Amino acid sequence: MTELKGLRDDVYRRPLATALERLGLGPGWRCVDVGAGGGDVSVALAEVVGRTGRVYAVDSDPLARDEVARAAAAHSQVLAITQAGEDLALPEPVDLAFCRFLLLHVVDPAVVLARMAGAVRPGGWVVAQEPITSAGRVGGQALSMPDARHPDVGAFLPALVKDSGLELVDAWAEAPAGVGPGPVRAYLEGLTGVDPGDDPIVLPPLVTVVGRRPGER
Ligand SMILES: C[S@@+](CC[C@H](N)C(=O)[O-])C[C@H]1O[C@@H](n2cnc3c(N)ncnc32)[C@H](O)[C@@H]1O
Repeated sequence: MTELKGLRDDVYRRPLATALERLGLGPGWRCVDVGAGGGDVSVALAEVVGRTGRVYAVDSDPLARDEVARAAAAHSQVLAITQAGEDLALPEPVDLAFCRFLLLHVVDPAVVLARMAGAVRPGGWVVAQEPITSAGRVGGQALSMPDARHPDVGAFLPALVKDSGLELVDAWAEAPAGVGPGPVRAYLEGLTGVDPGDDPIVLPPLVTVVGRRPGER
């Protein structure tokens, strides 16, 4: 799982960089990373917001807190909290509420998005990056993820963001692709346990939505 996490960070780094650039994230921002897992995104956010910023790394799994603490040992601006996204409650309003690969696993994505929308200040941002699993391909065949509750939630993200009362500022999809040995093949093998050989691969596209809470800018 840890290896897979590292590969995900590598393989899906470009979609993360695209999202953070689109947002104009900068020093001093206060953020929450919901479903932080091992803390890849939390650390990436911490590096941009710097010592004057703050990153709350929230996950429902208590083990994640230790993982984040290890990953973010050099970043005192990262605070790891054990909390379900459905119960999200922070000590202060944040400028950005972020999640990646979270909503496909939760019971009701709309409930978690509503909590994220409520966690940001008026004029603040909500960004979600979630997959359309069945749009991924190996050798032309559609991918599936039987363990996920909503494997194709990415396809519904723009509507979910709008329905949560946020202004839908932007939305797009990006998918790492490859063939033969390399990080894309290694990622897929780690995810499915099946070696795709030299079949061409398109990993599940990540849909990014950028929402903004109405109010003062
Ligand atoms: C696939 S991992 C994604 C980790 C990280 N966001 C990333 O992109 O690398 C999903 C994480 O969401 C957490 N999670 C699942 N359901 C949750 C919920 N309802 N509230 C908060 N975290 C949850 C899991 O414990 C896990 O750490």
